[in-house]
Amino acid sequence: MHRSSLRTWLFLVSVLFAGLVVGGVALTTYVVVSDGMSVVAHDATLRIARDASEIAKNSATVAKLEAVDRGLQGAEREAEAERQFLRTVPQMFSGAGLSEGDFAFYSENLEPYWFSNERALLPGLDEYRMEALEHRQPVESTVDTGGILAGLFGPARLGVFIVHVPIELPNNKSGVLDITYFPEQEEAVIDAIRLPMATLALSAMFIMVVMMQTSMGWVLKLVDDLREAADAIDAGQLDVELPVQGEHEIGALARSINDLIGRLRRRSEAQTRFIADASHELATPVAGIRGYANILRAWGKEDPEVRDEAINAIDRESHRMARLASDLLSLVRNERTLEYRSVRFDLNARCREILAGAATRYIEKGLEFEGPEEGQLVLMGDPDRLEDAISILVDNACKYTPAGGRVSLVTRRKRDIIIVEVVDSGVGIPARDLPNIFERFYRSDKSRSKETGGFGLGLSIAKSIIDAAGGEVEVQSIEGSGTTFTLRLPRGRV
Ligand SMILES: Nc1ncnc2c1ncn2[C@@H]1O[C@H](COP(=O)(O)OP(=O)(O)OP(=O)(O)O)[C@@H](O)[C@H]1O
Ligand SMILES: [Mg+2]
Repeated sequence: MHRSSLRTWLFLVSVLFAGLVVGGVALTTYVVVSDGMSVVAHDATLRIARDASEIAKNSATVAKLEAVDRGLQGAEREAEAERQFLRTVPQMFSGAGLSEGDFAFYSENLEPYWFSNERALLPGLDEYRMEALEHRQPVESTVDTGGILAGLFGPARLGVFIVHVPIELPNNKSGVLDITYFPEQEEAVIDAIRLPMATLALSAMFIMVVMMQTSMGWVLKLVDDLREAADAIDAGQLDVELPVQGEHEIGALARSINDLIGRLRRRSEAQTRFIADASHELATPVAGIRGYANILRAWGKEDPEVRDEAINAIDRESHRMARLASDLLSLVRNERTLEYRSVRFDLNARCREILAGAATRYIEKGLEFEGPEEGQLVLMGDPDRLEDAISILVDNACKYTPAGGRVSLVTRRKRDIIIVEVVDSGVGIPARDLPNIFERFYRSDKSRSKETGGFGLGLSIAKSIIDAAGGEVEVQSIEGSGTTFTLRLPRGRV
């Protein structure tokens, strides 16, 4: 997905999400309030209806009794009682604190004959009034309701609550009293919360969207940084470093990428250094050969001594070059871990051969050699390459041990591991050099190594062989008293 469209998409999702959450909460609140108000209005209606019907019944009785008291008879008494009733009812209703309701009396044939307010005369409710008359008990009805959500988008409409109560009139006829309640106060409460609620909901939604956008923008920015770093690496720039902020997942990713960049940088630096060192090492013998060739050309014909010396030197330098070339080649070959064979062979026999070879090469130093114990030590591996690696260590031991010193090659088996120790009583390696000696072209003491004529490649070749064999190499050394190289090789299924 395109980056900007991802942003748009995330924006839409956050708006939708915030809308759903905030809208849901606001709607629920509104429904609860609106429902509560409806219940309050209904309760108020029932309370007023109870009081009003009580008052109406009492007034009818009182009016009737008064007409009897005055000694009236028949139709006259009924007419007087009715008049009296109609006169006292309004005062009694208003006196009893029933001003919240509106009232209307209907006669038996549902003609209105008294009402407190014109709006109490609600049309279309005759069937409820009939029902109240017939069953002689109160009947409730509601008109003009707007539904529970009506107040969300306009003025609230809880409707008009009516209770139809059958009443015994003083003229011995039945009538119906309509107690009508207009829930204006309750509607006003709903109307009053609508605006603050909408404002609150919109602000909450806005804050939610802003917060989600900010955090997502932050994440996208980190992802952008990562992409930029990847582009920079792609363009060969290895000095970039991602900002690492915090301990979260993206911080961890940035740290891993920084580590990766660091490794790539170190590898590329090592490669550059290797090429520079290799060409420098090659340049030295080449310069020597050219110099002696010039001497040969100038004086070689006349002076046989100079000629012999020059030829010897050229021979020496070309040997050195050949050795360097072969070392470089074996390094490259080892690096690709090509041709590591796995055959069964006797390591002790090979070690004895290595020591014998070294003893001949370093015969003039008068070193004391100690070889592996009698008997065989069989393992699976590449005999030639392992011999190369051990030879390098033995060669170093001989090279860096002064005349009369001691070099020993000890082998043993510990469960599935074969241990080879090359111990010498030589000059040792300074502690600060120990971590570096396996690096290519590294020589612990340049001047000392110069006279031994090495390139500083031996140990790195040995290490790459041991790595290919799946083993480990480790060094311990005390400056001035000797060095021990320990190889640990897997024995394999012999
Ligand atoms: N047994 C040892 N005693 C003392 N120093 C050692 C020993 N083995 C290695 N070193 C130090 O470690 C350095 C690296 O050894 P390495 O075999 O890689 O190179 P080199 O012997 O100098 O040259 P090359 O082996 O390429 O001819 C040496 O220059 C030397 O300073
Ligand atoms: Mg060496």
